[in-house]
Amino acid sequence: MSEASKVRIAGVGSHVPERILTNKDLEAMVETSDEWITSRTGIRERHIAADGEPSSSLGIAAAQAALKDAGISAEELDLIIVATITPDYIYPSTASILQQALGATRAVAYDIEAACSGFIYGITIGEQYIASGRAEKVLVVAAETLSKITDWQDRNTCVLFGDGAGAAVLTRAVDDSCILSSYIGGDGAFGELLYMPAGGSLNPASERTVLERMHYMKMSGNEVFRAAVNAMNNAASKAMAMAGITSKDVDLIIPHQANMRIIQSVAKFMEVDMAKVYVNLDRFGNTSAATIGIALREAMDRGVVKKGSVVAMVAFGGGFTWGSLIFRC
Ligand code: ACO
Repeated sequence: MSEASKVRIAGVGSHVPERILTNKDLEAMVETSDEWITSRTGIRERHIAADGEPSSSLGIAAAQAALKDAGISAEELDLIIVATITPDYIYPSTASILQQALGATRAVAYDIEAACSGFIYGITIGEQYIASGRAEKVLVVAAETLSKITDWQDRNTCVLFGDGAGAAVLTRAVDDSCILSSYIGGDGAFGELLYMPAGGSLNPASERTVLERMHYMKMSGNEVFRAAVNAMNNAASKAMAMAGITSKDVDLIIPHQANMRIIQSVAKFMEVDMAKVYVNLDRFGNTSAATIGIALREAMDRGVVKKGSVVAMVAFGGGFTWGSLIFRC
């Protein structure tokens, strides 16, 4: 890639709703225990949106924080990409809602849907716009309210998810602080291992779909677990090879926060100490596309990511989708 087409992450923001739901709270809702959830997943609590608090609200707050961090105004944006599997509506897009709310009058705005890999997909797409000269300033937002599609009677899934948003502003790089590589992939053969059966054109909302609880996420946990480990390992290897680096050159890995055991397997495969892996799923659970943005903002605030740090983000999600993106901060 030529110097002129290099792209940087110029600002990062995040936002989570106020309300916290602990494992103890869940013990009163389904047959589970704090001990089971903590030992099988690593999650202790998660933030849950209020009634009437949609994904766009979280996304707007995260986007405003990212714009402030980047020092640019919404009017300067050329493109807004929102990654979400919990849009406010099927249409219009959540990105359109953000465009209006932020006052990004010049920006083209659209949603993408890559489940938990959405943030990496979004940044990868935004990077291409800037690298090709089609845009100068791009906002990527991953905003999710998984609580709205969680079956609170299903202990297999309801203990895993939380709500939140992460956002990144992309601009042309001015020095070697830039995206070093990005890789995305997927395999549609496994769509029904992790999906929401109703609400789309195949099974539109009806009395039957509601009675059969088809508007909630369904997941085959074990199969998803195995696929997640393999795909994340593969994606991280590909992105490191594309950047011409090894895991020794990476200062911090920010994996999708789905399960502590998945994260530990990825760290083991990459031969990195867990000290170099950022984990906050104990406090946020799996916020789907938003996990990596929330973790990145927190790692920056805590000084774990500094100017010059090489950060590798790696994700896996429904679809299946996966991806890894490496950048110098
Ligand atoms: N509390 C208590 N027991 C439970 C709970 C719970 N919350 N959930 C399941 N169990 C039980 C099961 O019923 C089962 O009981 P049985 O043996 O009597 O049938 C037992 O625990 C073991 O169940 P497993 O599914 O084998 O448990 P596992 O160790 O695989 O953990 C988990 C399940 C946590 C879901 C794990 O498989 C996982 O994390 N999978 C990956 C999820 C993921 O990564 N998703 C990412 C993408 S998400 C997205 O894209 C939106």
